[in-house]
Amino acid sequence: QGQSDYQLPLAGRIVTISAGGTREPLDPVRFLGNRSSGKQGVALAVAARNAGATVRLLAAHMDVPPPAGVEVVRVETALQLRAAALDAAARSDVVIMSAAVADFRPAEVSDTKIKKRDDTADPVISLVRNPDILQELVEQRNSGPAGSGQLIVGFAAETGDSQGDVLAYAEAKLRRKGCDLLVVNHVGTDKVFGQDSNSVVILSRSGSEPQEASGTKTEVSEAIIGRISFELNHVSP
Ligand code: CTP
Ligand code: CA
Repeated sequence: QGQSDYQLPLAGRIVTISAGGTREPLDPVRFLGNRSSGKQGVALAVAARNAGATVRLLAAHMDVPPPAGVEVVRVETALQLRAAALDAAARSDVVIMSAAVADFRPAEVSDTKIKKRDDTADPVISLVRNPDILQELVEQRNSGPAGSGQLIVGFAAETGDSQGDVLAYAEAKLRRKGCDLLVVNHVGTDKVFGQDSNSVVILSRSGSEPQEASGTKTEVSEAIIGRISFELNHVSP
């Protein structure tokens, strides 16, 4: 039995995946960062590659190496990731934003290392908003050639609070962002970041039932890629 007897579910598809955490510089040696390990994004890249896709990994800071057999574009800041994502998305069937993108960056970046001084007040860091890359990807897709069947997937790490539960927040985020699927992690301190296992709910803009997946990040990634393959191959845009 040769390969030609069946098709891998993502054969011929181009999948762009962002992973890791952005770093927003303060000066040449310092940055504001986050605890994203990149493990989930790398596991997704492996699952997509194994499903036959051509994978482009947009790698912000990661604690793990990128996998073999995928094209890697290194980025540091949210603005660099934005440029790389909008560019790659123009040629992709699927875009998955699993990177932890800094919501804010320092308003000013010092060209020289910030020194502590006794004659002036201690510095105060002011921040400005970074663009919402996921939202811009949706806008770019929607303003492109009509009927473009590109699938855009967001991730959300949510905590419930007195104002609402995790799924209610996630549903609101899905509508706000306009992406097709939103993969929701329930986070508490110590959960998810850097861990090898995971439990997620996949929400869909089309309103189908929330789908749960849990297990190792590999297993969860296979479930997410399985769902993406299903949407691409069975749901008309
Ligand atoms: N995201 C993005 N650009 C940003 C911030 C987030 O593309 N500037 C993407 C993330 O990669 C993720 C999704 O948006 O896929 C949700 O990120 P999240 O931080 O949960 O959403 P926010 O809109 O930033 O909301 P919050 O205020 O809860 O952080
Ligand atoms: Ca955020």
